[in-house]
Amino acid sequence: MNIVMISPGYPVEMAYFTRALATVGATVIGLGDQPPSALPEPARQALAHYEHVTLTDEVGVLAALHGLAQHASIDQVECLWEPYMILAARIRESFGLPGMTVEETLPFRDKERMKQKIDTAGIRTPWHVSATTVAEVWEAAERVGYPLIVKPIDGAGSADTYRVDSALELAEVLPLLRHVPEVSVEEFIDGEEFTYDTVCANGSILFENIMWYRPRPLQMKMHEWISPTSIVLRDLSVPHLQGGRQMGGEVLPALGFRSGFTHMEWYRKADGEAVFGEIGGRPPGARVVDLMNYATDGDLYVAWAEAVVHRGLSQPLERKFNAGCVFKRAKGVGRITHIEGLDRLLAEYGEHVVLVDLLPIGATRRDWRATLISDGLIIVRHPELQAVIEMTERFASDLDMYAE
Ligand SMILES: Nc1ncnc2c1ncn2[C@@H]1O[C@H](COP(=O)(O)OP(=O)(O)OP(=O)(O)O)[C@@H](O)[C@H]1O
Ligand SMILES: [Mg+2]
Repeated sequence: MNIVMISPGYPVEMAYFTRALATVGATVIGLGDQPPSALPEPARQALAHYEHVTLTDEVGVLAALHGLAQHASIDQVECLWEPYMILAARIRESFGLPGMTVEETLPFRDKERMKQKIDTAGIRTPWHVSATTVAEVWEAAERVGYPLIVKPIDGAGSADTYRVDSALELAEVLPLLRHVPEVSVEEFIDGEEFTYDTVCANGSILFENIMWYRPRPLQMKMHEWISPTSIVLRDLSVPHLQGGRQMGGEVLPALGFRSGFTHMEWYRKADGEAVFGEIGGRPPGARVVDLMNYATDGDLYVAWAEAVVHRGLSQPLERKFNAGCVFKRAKGVGRITHIEGLDRLLAEYGEHVVLVDLLPIGATRRDWRATLISDGLIIVRHPELQAVIEMTERFASDLDMYAE
């Protein structure tokens, strides 16, 4: 089976998915805009061929692939990187291949279309209206009421996303959105935030995952002093997660999703109501797939590949641990000068710490607004949730990185 993998080496985790395709027996043709020399090693080794193209140039991409198809059949197209999911669908249509069409992919890219489909299926979404002009935003605000959220219809990483509590605040926020062509204006949902992620084959869920964000992603984005924490949960049978699980099970067929990775976000209100947030037809980023691996002692990269190539898992994935990740942001600007508290925390919790990946002394700080990874991360795991809560809170408060 010859599979075209779009952007096989970027972002970095794509290399592991690419390698997994080869591991499960597929012949992998890479299609990307990285120069061949920039491909990460796991991707390079897995590729039978690499077609170096400009991914934004659809005509050029199709021409290159039709040229290639004279020598080798193309059986399937996979893309796990959000910006090129529509391109993947276009290639499928152009070659008459199975998998998601453009029409089926659009709701995963356009948050208004997404919510319209979800609404039609009778699933609870925040009240929402789309707007392309300032006047439309004001009109939408009147219908939605305060507090509300304004965000791009195709946003990522909470960029250009604002909570607005009054008309006065809306007047302040509007100029900041001038560069965003279309926004969603939504009812603000007060609650906790979780993911609902799956690996599916032929419309059946083979693996499900729920991750708990602490605090809510918008808070992480607003305050640099926060150490964002994500906890992949071991026990999905507890009552307070059932609303989100059930919703996830309804959202997938509503969008016609069949095979691959999905990443949904949902809110749980204080009264227990589950409210839909958004969904991507791709895996979550920010090392969450690795967290799933630490939680199961399994390999979700391979599980995905088995799902899309063989339509099933060769072995079941067992949830053994809660796995928590704490992202750190150094105090100060410039280069990392020192790290405090790590030795003590490792002495206390070392056996449960599975990864320490902090920027080394002397490295330049990363842009915490641009990347959730920030200046590094710690991953801990434990069968008991309370232990992971305690450890992640300690790493959040007692581990400090400094820059100058
Ligand atoms: N209707 C809403 N009510 C409350 N909070 C919201 C609402 N919409 C967005 N938010 C907050 O803003 C954050 C970002 O919004 P959203 O998840 O829609 O887009 P995104 O995170 O930018 O996209 P991605 O998750 O793909 O990076 C949410 O995680 C949540 O904290
Ligand atoms: Mg989101």
